Amino acid sequence: MPTVRDIRAKAGEEPITMLTAYDAPTAAVIDEAGIDMILVGDSMGNAVLGYDSTIPVTVDEIASRTGSVVRATEDALVVADLPFLGFGYDEKTAVENAGRMLKEEGASAIKIESGPHTVELTETLSNLGVPVMAHLGLTPQSVNQLGHVRQGTTQDEADEILDLAKRHEDAGAFSLVLEHIPSNLAATITAELDIPTIGIGAGPDTDGQVLVINDVIGLGEWSPPFAKQFGNVKSEMERAVTAYRDEVESEEFPGKKHSHVEDELDGVY
Ligand code: KIV
Repeated sequence: MPTVRDIRAKAGEEPITMLTAYDAPTAAVIDEAGIDMILVGDSMGNAVLGYDSTIPVTVDEIASRTGSVVRATEDALVVADLPFLGFGYDEKTAVENAGRMLKEEGASAIKIESGPHTVELTETLSNLGVPVMAHLGLTPQSVNQLGHVRQGTTQDEADEILDLAKRHEDAGAFSLVLEHIPSNLAATITAELDIPTIGIGAGPDTDGQVLVINDVIGLGEWSPPFAKQFGNVKSEMERAVTAYRDEVESEEFPGKKHSHVEDELDGVY
């Protein structure tokens, strides 16, 4: 199992890969493919829980899904997201929720959507031995304040993101997700920080990339403009489910191969 040190050591040496997963079979595929980190993201709200944002996702939901991902993962570093209001209100609750992901579910690190209010928390958690992945730019938990739009597009916004990135590095974050910001801003932040930056919609110059697994495999109704679909699992599911329906309706399934007869029961039935 890699540690956050191994991830840090890769920065600037070779690209770091990260994908989200929310269940054991998906995590096993991602892990076997040699992806460096698996994020149990609160994107599960849209991706698998049927919500239209990440806001309703609970600490219990993240914890349960983190456990299933950890049980299926041998090599990748598992990072658990803290959901909306799972941190940021008071430090004790945040420490308890973060600690739960490591102590009870076996995650190796936590991610928090960051801002001025998470600098101190990042320091507290890091000092306690909880590795923190910070997250700046588009932070979907702020949808009610910011909407779902590109961030860092003016000089003031860009300066603020750069400043926050440095403050989270100084506070002990082991890496930083940069979401939906201009590539040139992401390149500058990456050059100015020692910790690895992981981009999503932030161009090619970050130390690594992350995408939501549903977007990568083609499972879902909608994908953001910066995501790329590498497969079409949805159409394969549709094909399999339709074939199952057809064979049950035509009484082709189950056939002899999928049934068995117990000779001793012949006299009874
Ligand atoms: O929740 C999530 O999946 C994320 C990634 C998109 C970075 O925060």
